Amino acid sequence: MLSLRGVSKVFQIGADRKVAIRQIDLDLRSGEFLTIIGSNGAGKSTLLNLIAGTVPPTTGTIRLADMDITGVPPHIRARRIGRIVQDPLAGTAPSMTVAENLALASKRGRRTLRLGLPSRMHRRIRAQLEVLNIGMEDRLDCSVSTLSGGERQALTILMATLAQPEILLLDEHTAALDPSNAAMIVRMTCAFVERLGLTTLMVTHNMEQAIELGDRLVMMHKGEIIHDIAGEAKATTSVGELVDMFSRHHIVDDELLLERVC
Ligand SMILES: Nc1ncnc2c1ncn2[C@@H]1O[C@H](COP(=O)(O)OP(=O)(O)OP(=O)(O)O)[C@@H](O)[C@H]1O
Ligand SMILES: [Mg+2]
Repeated sequence: MLSLRGVSKVFQIGADRKVAIRQIDLDLRSGEFLTIIGSNGAGKSTLLNLIAGTVPPTTGTIRLADMDITGVPPHIRARRIGRIVQDPLAGTAPSMTVAENLALASKRGRRTLRLGLPSRMHRRIRAQLEVLNIGMEDRLDCSVSTLSGGERQALTILMATLAQPEILLLDEHTAALDPSNAAMIVRMTCAFVERLGLTTLMVTHNMEQAIELGDRLVMMHKGEIIHDIAGEAKATTSVGELVDMFSRHHIVDDELLLERVC
C-alpha cells in the first residue's frame, strides 16, 4: 500500500547540513496502523512530511498503491492522504463556521470551492457530527474559533477523514490537549481508523499509547528506524523494554521527552 525505498532527507541551512532521514525503507500494508516513537529530532515529523509531500526527499522513492508519488505535490496527495498535526488551529480555518470547514474538507484537492452546503450534504454532515457524540451537530453555524482545542481536533479528524483518504498521518495530534480531551480524541481516532480501514501512521511521545494502539510500532533515532515490531511481539512489549531499547542507543530521558504513563 505505502512503500518507501532509500528515502533520505538532508536539510541544508547555509553551510550547515542536517541529515533528518537516512536511507529509510518502509512498507505498510493496507489497513496497517503504525505507531512511531523516538527521541527529539529523530525525524518522525520529517518522515510524515515526506509522505504528505510537504517536504521533498533528497533521495529515494515513495509509492502509494501502484503509483510513484515522489514528485506529486502535497495538494494532489491530499486526496489520498489525510493529516492531523499537534496544533488544533492548524487543521481548520478558524474564522469560518464548522459547516464551511466541513464543506471545504469534502472538496479537498478539487478545484471547485463553491461554499455552502447542499441540503443532502448538510444532512450527511449533521449525521457525521452526531457520531462524534460531543454535540457539535448543534454548532454547525458557529465559528471554529469558538470551539475548544479538543472540539477543534475532533472536527479536524472528521475533516481529514471526510474525503475518504487511504492514509492517515497523525503527528502528536493529542499532545496539546488536556488528558481527558486527549483520551477522547484517541478514542475518536481509533473509531474512524477502524470504520474506514485507514492505513495509519501515528507519532506519539506516549510509550503506553504506542504499545496499546495499532498493530505495529517503530522506534526512530537520528533519522533511522532502529526497532520495528508487530503483532504478538508488539502486544507483549512493555514500556520498560522500550526504555531499555532506547538506552542501548544511549538515548537519555531528556532527549526522549517520552511519557511513561498515559
Ligand atoms: N525545515 C527544516 N529545516 C531545517 N532543519 C529541519 C527542518 N525540519 C526538520 N529539521 C531538522 O531535522 C531533524 C528532524 O526533525 P523532526 O522535526 O523530523 O524531528 P521529530 O522526530 O519530529 O522531533 P520532535 O519529537 O521534537 O517533534 C531535526 O534535527 C530538525 O531540526
Ligand atoms: Mg515532530
